Amino acid sequence: MSAHILTIGYLLASVTFITGLKMLSHPETARRGNAIAAAGMALAIFATIFLYRDELTGPLAHKGLIFAALAIGTLTGILAAKKVKMTAMPEMVSLFNGMGGACAMLISIIEFNSHIYLAFDLGTGYVFTQHVSQGEIAIITIGLIIGSVSFAGSIVAWGKLNGRFRDKVFKGQRILNMLLLAILLIATGVFIYFTPALSKDYFGTIMTFTDGSFGDSGVVPGQVYMFYAILALALLYGVMFVLPIGGADMPVVISLLNSFTGVAAACGGFMYNNKAMLTGGILVGAAGTLLTILMCKAMNRSLLNVLLGAFGGGATGAAAGREQGNYKEISVADAAMVMSYAGKVMIVPGYGLAVAQAQHICHELEKLLNDKGVAVDYAIHPVAGRMPGHMNVLLAEADVAYDKLAEMEAANDMLKTTDVVLILGANDVVNPAAKSDPASPIYGMPILEVELAKTVIVNKRSMKPGYAGIENELFFRPKTSMLFGDAKKVLQELVAAIKEC
Ligand code: TAP
Repeated sequence: MSAHILTIGYLLASVTFITGLKMLSHPETARRGNAIAAAGMALAIFATIFLYRDELTGPLAHKGLIFAALAIGTLTGILAAKKVKMTAMPEMVSLFNGMGGACAMLISIIEFNSHIYLAFDLGTGYVFTQHVSQGEIAIITIGLIIGSVSFAGSIVAWGKLNGRFRDKVFKGQRILNMLLLAILLIATGVFIYFTPALSKDYFGTIMTFTDGSFGDSGVVPGQVYMFYAILALALLYGVMFVLPIGGADMPVVISLLNSFTGVAAACGGFMYNNKAMLTGGILVGAAGTLLTILMCKAMNRSLLNVLLGAFGGGATGAAAGREQGNYKEISVADAAMVMSYAGKVMIVPGYGLAVAQAQHICHELEKLLNDKGVAVDYAIHPVAGRMPGHMNVLLAEADVAYDKLAEMEAANDMLKTTDVVLILGANDVVNPAAKSDPASPIYGMPILEVELAKTVIVNKRSMKPGYAGIENELFFRPKTSMLFGDAKKVLQELVAAIKEC
């Protein structure tokens, strides 16, 4: 009976995951979608704790420990999410993604131990239980590898996003990464193939070897060592794979790591025959993969390049720091005048807008200009900010209407008829070097073509580069005027000045 209730619980949880994911695709429903999926997850967790019964071992043991872990995790999650600044959100997402990977890795280690290797060297010899099929060992190992890569990679990504780690590129890194990946795949194939596929009938049979020989059908310690060697290799690959990626290419890696965690969790679902875990994992894996494809498109990179960790790197070439000439500045009063008398203004939000937390005052500026008969839209680059959809989330927080946000292609079309572009804390996503300088680390990335508009006003605090660490020629072009200062402060002054116009 309890098994049937559990199945219904998993079914309900799966439905909430799908509904929640669907609702996440629109800012208006995203919050509710998140809450619905979280409720489904809570249902799946508590149903498992109270209703799951193993055929041989009965209900779950150690409930006290399980609840203690749940309490620690819940409290840490709530505190971290409450404390985190909006600009540190991408780091936190990376860290949480890493925790998902670590969880899948630990599940595989525990399952390996309980399925294959009960105890090692009890003083008298080697003791094993054998309860594994080739399929099970494959799922355990695949979950181990993907989870470990995702864990190690996400921790490096977290460090890079908050500036703790720098991009590390050395000669031969690409070859080394390919070699590492090849060794990892071969070792995994050998491990899965040679680990004895013993029938479940042997479950419970304990074979004790006291003379140092392991028989032909036992799991020899060599396989145990190999399992941990694969774990170490996967962790190393996770680090090596993310470490060299820099410039502006992190978005692709972040979404790829996301999909890895989903696949690793789905492996856990297979392992435990747990439908909710399987559905959740597959949804995250599929959504992450789609996002990776979209990010690759946005960055104009191939997925193979991403997998080999072949792109990115520090700033090289012409755009890396060459003196670009003179730039001109504009005062707040003049900027207010130009915008007040424009027919159409396009705002380009970037990471700096999030840093300044200027989304609300930005919306106020939009409404004020609208009142003066100026049409205002937002041009959204897919990798603006530090996480997928960062600008959408930021502007939704300030209740900016969703239909005001134009995606890159549409925005580039609209820019042709725009009078004034106001760039707020964006840099790499409007850098023309992406189109014109093959030596630039962002070369090939599609950009918002702000120069199609009549006038370009750039707000940032200084002439410092953005995430990719490269100079931006746009700031020195004749159409461009620099409006220096913190975005929030400048926007407040702009709003005040426009009211006077
Ligand atoms: P960036 O190129 O990083 O430029 C942001 C600019 O904002 C900086 O040049 C900075 O100049 C300015 N700024 C910072 N604080 C400010 C403030 N308080 N007020 C006004 N300006 C401020 O940003 P972007 O154009 O949005 O491009 C995003 C970059 O991040 C891309 O290279 C992208 O690949 C990378 N990235 C994206 C993601 C995702 S998924 N979106 C993930 C990781 C990395 P000052 O210091 O002079 O003010």
